[in-house]
Amino acid sequence: MNVTVIGTGYVGLVSGACLAAVGHRVICVDKAAEKIEMLDAGRMPIYEPGLAEVVADNVKAGRLAFTTDLPAAAQDADIVMIAVGTPTRKLDGNADLTYVYAAAEEIGRALDHYAVIVTKSTVPAGTGFEVQRIVSTANPTLEFDIASNPEFLREGNAIFDFMKPDRIVVGTVTERAREAMRTLYQPFSDEGVELILTDIVSSELIKYAANTFLATKVSFINEVADLCEKVGGDIQDVARGMGSDRRIGHAFLKPGPGYGGSCFPKDTLAMVHIGERALSPATIVEAVISVNRSRTHRMMAKVMAAAGGNLRDRRIALLGLTFKPETDDVRDSVAILLAELLVQAGAHVVAYDPQGAAQTRLVIGDAVEYAESADAALDDADLCIIATDWAEFQERPVADYRQRLRHPVMVDLRNVFSLAEMAEHGFAYHSVGRKSVEEYTAHLETEVPLRRAV
Ligand SMILES: NC(=O)c1ccc[n+]([C@@H]2O[C@H](COP(=O)([O-])OP(=O)(O)OC[C@H]3O[C@@H](n4cnc5c(N)ncnc54)[C@H](O)[C@@H]3O)[C@@H](O)[C@H]2O)c1
Repeated sequence: MNVTVIGTGYVGLVSGACLAAVGHRVICVDKAAEKIEMLDAGRMPIYEPGLAEVVADNVKAGRLAFTTDLPAAAQDADIVMIAVGTPTRKLDGNADLTYVYAAAEEIGRALDHYAVIVTKSTVPAGTGFEVQRIVSTANPTLEFDIASNPEFLREGNAIFDFMKPDRIVVGTVTERAREAMRTLYQPFSDEGVELILTDIVSSELIKYAANTFLATKVSFINEVADLCEKVGGDIQDVARGMGSDRRIGHAFLKPGPGYGGSCFPKDTLAMVHIGERALSPATIVEAVISVNRSRTHRMMAKVMAAAGGNLRDRRIALLGLTFKPETDDVRDSVAILLAELLVQAGAHVVAYDPQGAAQTRLVIGDAVEYAESADAALDDADLCIIATDWAEFQERPVADYRQRLRHPVMVDLRNVFSLAEMAEHGFAYHSVGRKSVEEYTAHLETEVPLRRAV
């Protein structure tokens, strides 16, 4: 099929490249001329493992091209896919649909033949019909159908997730659109991937329900982690014990500093807004947001306690700025919120991230010092914080942290190291939902379970 994808961000570029990889002819369109120039020059505007190779292969094979010219790109399109951003609208927390609606209008003006206009962006229930109205208004004689096709890929794993999805969700109104979407995804259904066909609103809701449910798991396990700290449990064991129940599963039961990124924060807020508008309150999601919001301050309190109550002029090595490893995305990253609090408390923050420094600079400028390597961040620091669990932080020997830091104090917000290892190296080690090194050592010596008043 001929596919036009609008937006070459994390979702649009990956979707376009992968649809080309399964044999479609894809043209990706973006308004940002600098992104298109980069792509034309064979450089990626985002960091996503494996993406450059898939793009290069398919450009070479003549199945993938880039342009800023939507009318030209839409000339022979069977499918036009909207994959633009839907950030949080500052005013009320709802998804900002400006980009989706602008794209719909441009598509309406650009198309002169039947096509299926597919919304891949995450959008509130009913948005598809507004897209339909906008296209019809822009081009009253155009014959077209709409479809909803939310995306579930994870940054850092996006190529795999797109090529081997758990399921593909498609919402449509007409049989003609359903048939077109079946053809688009045939290479995947031939491989046994389940195609879930439904109506537009259900499809749009599936995306929000899935993301807010995962965010709920994160906030839930974080609350249990807090409880573990109070009563002397170990969240790693609790999460393992819970997650081994197949009805629950291990995914998203990792305690930490709270969720961030380009999806969960905005999608939870939008879900609450959708519920309010429909007079069907999303009470659980409201609680999830509230737990997550308080998380950054809790983490800050942890750092403050580790620093003995004063951060003024302390040199803090902050390892990790992205919201998770294997991406350069820092949108709503907890590490950045924490960096700002540390700076406000008078600390000198030396931050290092394998991919995220350039994006961070766009958000907080030079509020922190950016180190070129983890070594440079750690050297002579009073305290180290692991904010994102990049493999290189996990693989670095504890002895090396010990050697480089001025004081052996670590706040590990991702529970990367074992208590035994940190005790062995004499660290004051503060992690999430686990005992302190002192409690751990005392526990080993007495072999009596810690008991605290509950
Ligand atoms: N990032 C993720 O991991 C992820 C996963 C699943 C779903 N989603 C959803 O997918 C959508 C896109 O997210 P993203 O992270 O790829 O966004 P992004 O901000 O990385 O990319 C959006 C791109 O669209 C371009 N754009 C905006 N308006 C345009 C127009 N009218 N014409 C051409 N280009 C235009 C922008 O220049 C930008 O390059 C969002 O709704 C998001 O919620 C994202």
